Amino acid sequence: MTNHMPTRLRRSVSIRNLVRETRLAKENLVMPLFFKEGKGVEPIESMPGIGKMSQDALLKEVEKLQKAGIKSILLFGSTSCKDADGTLSYDEKSPFHTTLRAIRKASDMVIIADVCLCAYTDHGHCGVLTAGPKNRRIDNAKTLETFAKVAVSYAKAGVDMVAPSAMADGQVKALRTALDKNGCSQTLIMSYAVKYASSFYGPFRDIYDSSPEFGDRKTYQMDPGNKREALREALLDVKEGADIIMVKPALTYLDIISAVREKVNVPVAAYNVSGEYSMIKAAGLKGWLDEKSAALEILTSIKRAGADMIITYWAKEAAAWI
Ligand code: PBG
Repeated sequence: MTNHMPTRLRRSVSIRNLVRETRLAKENLVMPLFFKEGKGVEPIESMPGIGKMSQDALLKEVEKLQKAGIKSILLFGSTSCKDADGTLSYDEKSPFHTTLRAIRKASDMVIIADVCLCAYTDHGHCGVLTAGPKNRRIDNAKTLETFAKVAVSYAKAGVDMVAPSAMADGQVKALRTALDKNGCSQTLIMSYAVKYASSFYGPFRDIYDSSPEFGDRKTYQMDPGNKREALREALLDVKEGADIIMVKPALTYLDIISAVREKVNVPVAAYNVSGEYSMIKAAGLKGWLDEKSAALEILTSIKRAGADMIITYWAKEAAAWI
């Protein structure tokens, strides 16, 4: 009879390394970066190690990331001049657009820009709202028109990829059509196709004071209980022309990452979001667990679930740890 001893494969570091099924690579990690107007860095209390950065600080950070071996960044724009329709979001003269052009000039990083209005609207919702004082909702058609302008303005500023994150219906198709019409057929679209209405975005919303002024995001972001709907959303976006499909958040949706990976033929990205980072950081700082090994375990689990790329606030640190 065969003597089954699975532990033989775990006997030494070298044997374990030899047979490891899932390996993290820094080439698959994307670092999110938050823009602010003015000068310098403004720390984010709920996200230790992460800050809002002005153009000068971002340029320095990009250089550090490149040295660390991180080759992709996801940039979030913002403005201090918010209005109802988020008009600064597509103003090519805005400080954020100027910064995009500066980063493009300074580096060959893969630059991804988030396309959303929540950091540009005075009401904090992700799109343009219907008129009138009561029962205000997202006006999908008007929102798509604005997103198309935002995406084209980012593409013209030199980004490689636009990432619509607002869960508006038809946003991928609207972006693809507008980009192609404006000579930007090379610009990639990474769609936040499967984005749940999650409490793990909490720290992010503090950054830009972008919590909705009334209501919540449950009329456009997905219900955490739904899986079939995630596959529907993913397939729709592939049909509309998405080059990459994202699932967000990552940790509480590993089953969704795995199911989406099975279903689509395009690369799948997972967003390891702010709350997922903050809770481990906080526990690490308190000495309740070891941050480095917890973070690497989390990132490995996301990759094992099927993510080809991982967007994570640990990108720079993880590059040194891997
Ligand atoms: C904007 C947006 C959010 C995040 C990315 N883009 C917040 C939200 O939808 O409320 C969350 C990122 C994070 O928590 O790390 N639509």
